[in-house]
Amino acid sequence: MNDQQLQARHQELREQYRQVSEQKLNLDLTRGKPSTEQLCQSDALDGILANDYLCADGSDSRNYGGIMGIPEARKFAAEYLETIPSRTMVGGNSSLQMMYQVVIGAHFHGVNGPESAWMAEASKTGSQVKFLCPAPGYDRHFSVCEALNIIMIPVTMTPEGPDMDQVEALVKADPMIKGIWCVPKYSNPDGVVYSAPVVARMAQLGKIAGANFRIMWDNAYAEHHLVDTPPTLANILELSEAAGTLDNVVVIGSTSKITHAGAGIAFIASSEANLASLADQLGISTIGPDKVNQLRHMRLLKDMDALRGLMQGHRRILQPKFESVLKALEAGLAEKSVNGQALGSWTKPQGGYFVLFDTQPGLADKVVKLTAAAGVKLTPAGSTYPYKNDPNDSNIRLAPSFPSVKDIEAAMRVFVLCVELATIEKALGL
Ligand SMILES: Cc1ncc(COP(=O)(O)O)c(C=O)c1O
Repeated sequence: MNDQQLQARHQELREQYRQVSEQKLNLDLTRGKPSTEQLCQSDALDGILANDYLCADGSDSRNYGGIMGIPEARKFAAEYLETIPSRTMVGGNSSLQMMYQVVIGAHFHGVNGPESAWMAEASKTGSQVKFLCPAPGYDRHFSVCEALNIIMIPVTMTPEGPDMDQVEALVKADPMIKGIWCVPKYSNPDGVVYSAPVVARMAQLGKIAGANFRIMWDNAYAEHHLVDTPPTLANILELSEAAGTLDNVVVIGSTSKITHAGAGIAFIASSEANLASLADQLGISTIGPDKVNQLRHMRLLKDMDALRGLMQGHRRILQPKFESVLKALEAGLAEKSVNGQALGSWTKPQGGYFVLFDTQPGLADKVVKLTAAAGVKLTPAGSTYPYKNDPNDSNIRLAPSFPSVKDIEAAMRVFVLCVELATIEKALGL
């Protein structure tokens, strides 16, 4: 388009934007939470125990204790996280809380006595604790670091996972890098599945990192597929055991997006020594997790086959929503360009909860503000980066799980309009 054509198109889009703004929409594509229909799939949890509170080992789930979780839930967690029950712990409703606890434990108390605390080492050496943050990533991981004043170092994400050359060089050069956040399958937000070579190199990191380094392997979307033949993820626990680095790996998962998001159960897998240390620290704040809920989950989920059946139900609900996002992007933006450049690019995830959209550089914040003013809430630009700083100002995370298809269609009409409008306004210097 020449300048005159751009001006004309701009007028058209401004008029469309004015009209849509008058509709006073109130739509939201921000957080990746399950829809009510998805939650309803697990409503049998309520009442499933029918007064039978006894666990497989004969203990009463209603009583105190059992900080590691009930035996049948640990067995289940072992299958889910691909390890053995003695290397699992099952907790309450939030894996995020368990991750926070792991980080706090290592930071303040030490994984191997007070001398091993990251903070103790930092004050002894006059340095600061640091974490690698593959970016874009999960904003709440970054909040954990921010809350503890842990310096975040962004690492480039590639289609195979974090750039391992960068990761290895950083870790080798600085022993105060004490961890890395990873969402290895259907990564939040870019949907990346870590390749086998990336996982194999991750498993070796403990050998070149400083003391008490931890890989936070948040496998939140392990079974959350949107395709018939899902990609596989190499088993980091097996690989790290073979490498002698099991202590460096903490694998995390939960049923939040399987059963009831706010009332599920969370799992952790690591070495027996790490779990014993975590149990000691957790024991300060609780006598044990909600074992009744763990038992309810085991009666509902039964085994991995049953869980996968339930996940097919989720897929049936989620797939049309993802399709509606992709269809709108394709129809609204795929064929268009401004100044010889596409209006954006986007992921086509094989699983997980997000579509990641990239605007031309410098436009994400403007697009999010334009859509907000027209009644469509999007995750704030920058949220997917440490310190909310997207260096290109181009990433926008779209989360279509909660709204209805009809609402997604309406929201996406506004979104594509705002992307084109913002891009043309930049090209015109407006
Ligand atoms: C990567 C990732 N980890 C963890 C969570 C939260 O999990 P939980 O509900 O078990 O705390 C989310 C939720 O969106 C997530 O995207």
